[in-house]
Amino acid sequence: MKTILITGGAGFIGSAVVRQMINETDYKVVNVDKLTYAGNLQSLVSVSNNPRYKFEQVDICDAAEVSRVFREHQPDAIMHLAAESHVDRSITGPADFIQTNIVGTYTLLEAARAHWNSLEGERKANFRFHHISTDEVYGSLGDAGFFTEDTAYEPNSPYSASKASSDHLVRAWHHTYGMPVVTTNCSNNYGPYHFPEKLIPLVILNAVNGKPLPIYGKGDNIRDWLYVDDHARALRTVLETGKLGETYNIGGWNEKTNLEVVQAICVLLDELHPQGAPHANLITYVADRAGHDKRYAIDATKIADDLGWKPQETFETGLRKTVAWYLENTDWVKGVTSGEYQNWIKKQYA
Ligand code: NAD
Ligand code: TYD
Repeated sequence: MKTILITGGAGFIGSAVVRQMINETDYKVVNVDKLTYAGNLQSLVSVSNNPRYKFEQVDICDAAEVSRVFREHQPDAIMHLAAESHVDRSITGPADFIQTNIVGTYTLLEAARAHWNSLEGERKANFRFHHISTDEVYGSLGDAGFFTEDTAYEPNSPYSASKASSDHLVRAWHHTYGMPVVTTNCSNNYGPYHFPEKLIPLVILNAVNGKPLPIYGKGDNIRDWLYVDDHARALRTVLETGKLGETYNIGGWNEKTNLEVVQAICVLLDELHPQGAPHANLITYVADRAGHDKRYAIDATKIADDLGWKPQETFETGLRKTVAWYLENTDWVKGVTSGEYQNWIKKQYA
């Protein structure tokens, strides 16, 4: 039975990966997470009692603790998702982004390299360091074209610049030390357990509570949306079958303007939560984000052709599931919006 060390497993995408790995494979999973404001163990209650799941509250910048985790758990692979992930926070306070996304990735790479060097035979040959990154490293597109794996890096925000740096470190550890790495660059994710600072969960919860739905600028910026469980499936596919040293773009072929996304949420809420309809009356245009990237769009041909991955959800099916989930999972929502999730975490690990 293989052991996968997943960093950032208490976050939005990491928790989807942990749940999928526990429910659909026989891997052991070690979740390494510092539990910042974005880490929420309530997203893992469905798997946390499984004997194949272990949690380590560790900062990936802490070299001694990261090395201890490698020694104790002897992983066969790393899936590295821990990061500061919100562009707006990176604009008002970039320091944590530089620390976690760059220094943290470096620290993890060095611990992984020492561990990999200590392995022998099959275990060494099959070891993988899977770095999870974003399409935002490519910068912004005009009206036409797509990001491919060959697109030049042109990151524009402190967040995307820190992720681009981490991608380069991973690439260099492969080129220089021969580390067995794979990297994936994915488009915007949405789905259950998403922290309500990002557009889709923020708009759902504001609309339910009769609060304004803030749209930056004119609402004509375009994002390419992927349902989080489709991303988690893609990550497993790349981990298990991706070619070493390669990068794979992951996307859902679902380009939407922000205004289209917000209007689609309002229409779903008018049907599923008619109190307050029409919810679109709450749409409020606010000041634009500094340096706001105009358009992201992923060409996901390589992962489809080489590894056979395709998304299962359309934007319509995924968004309906997401809105319904936020309406049904009031305990999780209450925990997050009241801040109680952080006390709950402290109580569990007191
Ligand atoms: P998230 O903010 O929801 O979760 C990040 C997790 O990392 C949290 O659990 C947090 O506690 C943990 N963490 C932060 N700093 C840490 C540190 N120093 N040590 C240990 N743990 C730490 O992020 P997410 O949306 O789940 O994104 C996960 C990864 O996927 C990130 O690397 C992000 O760049 C990438 N990504 C995200 C998207 C998206 O749309 N959300 C798209 C493409 C790629
Ligand atoms: P976000 O969910 O923060 O993801 P990212 O910046 O990584 O793409 O934002 C998605 C889009 O929605 C982005 O173009 C900014 C916009 N946006 C708003 O218009 N209003 C909001 O309140 C937020 C959080 C985002």
